[in-house]
Amino acid sequence: MNALAMSGCPYFQRKHLLASKQQVKEDDVDAEQSEVNKPSKGGIIYGDYLQLDKVVSSQLLQSELKGNKIHDEHLFIVTHQAYELWFKQILWELDSVREIFISGHVRDERNMLKVNTRIHRIVMIFRLLVDQFAVLETMTALDFFDFREYLTPASGFQSLQFRLLENKIGVPESQRVPYNRRHYRDNFRGQDIELLQQSEKEPTLLQLVEKWLERTPGLEEDGFNFWGKLESNIFEGLRRGKDKIEQKPDSEMKEELMADFIKQKELFMCLFDEKRHNHLLSKGERRLSYKALQGALMIYFYREEPRFQVPFQLLTSLMDIDTLMTKWRYNHVCMVHRMIGSKAGTGGSSGYQYLRSTVSDRYKVFVDLFNLATFLVPRDWVPKLNPNEHTFLYTAECCDSSYCSSEDSD
Ligand code: HEM
Repeated sequence: MNALAMSGCPYFQRKHLLASKQQVKEDDVDAEQSEVNKPSKGGIIYGDYLQLDKVVSSQLLQSELKGNKIHDEHLFIVTHQAYELWFKQILWELDSVREIFISGHVRDERNMLKVNTRIHRIVMIFRLLVDQFAVLETMTALDFFDFREYLTPASGFQSLQFRLLENKIGVPESQRVPYNRRHYRDNFRGQDIELLQQSEKEPTLLQLVEKWLERTPGLEEDGFNFWGKLESNIFEGLRRGKDKIEQKPDSEMKEELMADFIKQKELFMCLFDEKRHNHLLSKGERRLSYKALQGALMIYFYREEPRFQVPFQLLTSLMDIDTLMTKWRYNHVCMVHRMIGSKAGTGGSSGYQYLRSTVSDRYKVFVDLFNLATFLVPRDWVPKLNPNEHTFLYTAECCDSSYCSSEDSD
């Protein structure tokens, strides 16, 4: 061994250490480099796999074509394309989930995890889409003004995928805000119109979830009879509440308590009135059938039970979709206001005014799920479950053949 090293010179030791580390690194690099260069051996390469030649050559600046290239038009195009790609992925997931429901595979409760995972994925994509406007907002109104004339009459109103998405989730025609007194389909041509008509006829996510909720175990009148039991518990609870109020000495507070009690009673009388429900349904104020509403409320109350945990998560994700679509509309309209003020849109609508009116409950598909919180009651009013008697909440429905034969078994 070297005498200096023996002497313990710290400088030498450090240098020696660095040199040997360097050697190890070089050896590693050599080993890494010794791998075969796979693309040279054939097979698909990155750019071909992703068809990037098409993707990255699809940004055609209208301003450049017209001989007045405006820098920010590139960002404008890429942003829209990124949105459309994500819309495509959402439709992909949505169609697969609808197919699981339509084919009846959802009867096998093990498939609910797949449904949940995909719906949750849609939620995560929407989160991204809500925030993505911030990138486009780095463009100023004046920068936009520089090339806006070149894209008229193109408009997001003509986004086929956005309309398909609304239709497939369950935005009904009757709830759409009128756009220049024209049918929303008038903005489309040829095959796109057929695709839209088709999407209006197919079962929507809302309708499929509705059918599934109607089968919630425990609703059977000759079984656990959740609804019947809940009704008698609630009215018994209200009666006891009223007795307590009546025992109080006369005062302003007593009057207020009694007024609150009457309101609460009316609310619950409305909940248990099927005719009233159907009336609200016909006005579009409720969207789920009476039975499906019962199922949803049951899942809310018993969400901790093994069989209802995944269904509860699904209901939560469905509300997330509604919330995020509303946020998307809101962020979009705020950006539009900033970019064009109160000018008309390139698609011919009033622009900001029209878009602002779409940020409303009319477009909330799962509005009933939000409203369920109105009917939550103290835990001790919820019908008690005796696990020995009510095994339905512990025993999942499953059918091996459908589970295995699912075409969607990827
Ligand atoms: C500078 C940016 C933007 C402006 C000024 C703008 C403006 C507008 C306006 C004025 C409308 C109403 C229809 C019309 O009269 O044209 C509209 C609708 C729409 N835009 Fe945008 N937009 C912008 C960015 C985007 C982006 C990035 C997307 C993403 C895909 C988008 C998607 C849509 C959709 C889907 C509609 C239809 C909404 C509905 O009818 O509910 N827009 N936009």
